[in-house]
Amino acid sequence: MPLNRPLLIAGNWKMNPTLRADAVALATAVRDGVGPESTVHVAVCPPAVYLEAVDAVLENSPIGLGAQNMHWEPSGAYTGELAGAMLIDVGCTHVILGHSERRHGLGETDEQINQKLRAALAVGLIPIVCLGERLAEREAGRTEQILETQLNGSLAGLEPERAAGVVLAYEPVWAIGTGKVASPDQAQAAHAFIRRWLAERFGAAIASRVIVQYGGSVKPDNAAGLLEQPDIDGALVGGASLNAGDFLGIVQAARAVSAAGKRH
Ligand code: 13P
Repeated sequence: MPLNRPLLIAGNWKMNPTLRADAVALATAVRDGVGPESTVHVAVCPPAVYLEAVDAVLENSPIGLGAQNMHWEPSGAYTGELAGAMLIDVGCTHVILGHSERRHGLGETDEQINQKLRAALAVGLIPIVCLGERLAEREAGRTEQILETQLNGSLAGLEPERAAGVVLAYEPVWAIGTGKVASPDQAQAAHAFIRRWLAERFGAAIASRVIVQYGGSVKPDNAAGLLEQPDIDGALVGGASLNAGDFLGIVQAARAVSAAGKRH
């Protein structure tokens, strides 16, 4: 039975590239490769200073534009931060929240992510909320417990009618930037757990509409195996999104999975 949700392939460029011209060139190559319409949803998330330039490249293309973070306050004395309204103003459609490099590298908490989630929804951004366990947590058999804590905290108070508009990204920390991709079975098991949590919390109908991406060493040659899994609805791609050919290879894999009839 086809699933009630599209695939979403998003490129998280992180703190790359370091030249505006390179960001524009990468966005241009992705735009040209994706073409004028796409059944598979595609988004790129460049560094904030390049959002406006990349938005100009993506004009009239179906590719979404995401920021990598935002603040929860609408404006004010928050040095170095960016407000949701600013992101909307420069053309953003999406915003990544709670990436593990911010959770574990910078001490971001579930409570902060929850505040950011509310602020993102309030201005009309599609939040991509990241979750995932560390290696020691997986080895200790605590993966589901960690995911449950992150879901309870970062989605606290989320109204059911808004939940379907939130994207989740399961990114096991041990798979990020390591080349150690989760196996399709490992990833599917975590995604199924997340889907069950969503169903318990928001009901089965809404849970069936929430896009849950996988992230962590996704490449063109491992993408199809992951995307064929019933609860994996796309990929949040780091390293491979910095090379247009690799990123487009992942989009192509998603299109093939979609065309094979497993998805709308
Ligand atoms: P890599 O694809 O480089 O492992 O990064 C994944 C990631 O963190 C995407 O947000």
